[in-house]
Amino acid sequence: MGHEQRVRAFYDYAGPAYEALMDDVWHHGDPVAEARGLSPQQAARALEERLVRLAGLGPGDRALDFGSGVGGATVHMAAFTGATFVGLSNNEGLSQRARRLAAERGLADRVQFLTVGDEDYTTLAAWPGMSFDAITFYESVCHLPHKERFFRSAHRLLKPGGALVGVDWLQRPFGAHRTPEEIARFIDPVNDTIRLAGLGTLHDYESMLEDAGYHVTLAEDLFPGVPCWGSTPPEDRPKWLGYDGPGGELIQAGKHALDAARGAGVFTVGAFAAHRLDSAS
Ligand SMILES: C[S@@+](CC[C@H](N)C(=O)[O-])C[C@H]1O[C@@H](n2cnc3c(N)ncnc32)[C@H](O)[C@@H]1O
Repeated sequence: MGHEQRVRAFYDYAGPAYEALMDDVWHHGDPVAEARGLSPQQAARALEERLVRLAGLGPGDRALDFGSGVGGATVHMAAFTGATFVGLSNNEGLSQRARRLAAERGLADRVQFLTVGDEDYTTLAAWPGMSFDAITFYESVCHLPHKERFFRSAHRLLKPGGALVGVDWLQRPFGAHRTPEEIARFIDPVNDTIRLAGLGTLHDYESMLEDAGYHVTLAEDLFPGVPCWGSTPPEDRPKWLGYDGPGGELIQAGKHALDAARGAGVFTVGAFAAHRLDSAS
């Protein structure tokens, strides 16, 4: 089984687990909002709002959300901006949950969720060039073995002036853990248990975006100089470690691995904004 297929199979059990543990939004939030006392979910909304503002999305615009999970971020961005969204996932179970959420929120006419093939992200060939005003991603690109191909495909789909904005899991040297081997000691178990294709650094993402032709306007480590414990309230820990639904042991192993990497400081989360400036197709 290839990596992308393993990711799809992972979400057969991780999808219901994450929904039980995190409801409908599965990405980190704005640490400033959390420091002001907002919940992880409210902080996630605040980060989504910050990024779609940077993208300049408004009513009538058309956006693609890559890796939409059960749809919480996609539906909120659509409600907040007035734009039309297409959410993409490679797991139909997730897309079904997301469609239900859009219908419950009265947004089914503006938010569509599609299940794509596992490798479709390398070309996004289903859409003609310049189809979208913005493309968003929230903690989905980290699953992709060919991240640079996703960024290039997304660039083709953006209208000139269009924006790619998103958040992703990253690795970095931190404290005493500075060599590739020391970092890998913490990050490899995260990649393995959560089916990530290898985490990039902030600089890797900037380079991939620039190589794909974007003008990068934001590449920010959301937890500079401190371990990343964002959206991880200590009181949630027993819920994760006691999760006994399908795949429970694997969910618990992922939590252990990620918390070890958080504690070592080598795991962090980055926020990105980049624009397509050229007019070529
Ligand atoms: C951690 S979830 C993020 C969900 C959502 N963005 C959120 O923040 O709540 C990762 C998402 O990436 C999607 N994904 C991973 N690999 C993919 C691939 N090869 N093609 C399409 N989607 C993929 C998964 O199906 C899932 O929807």
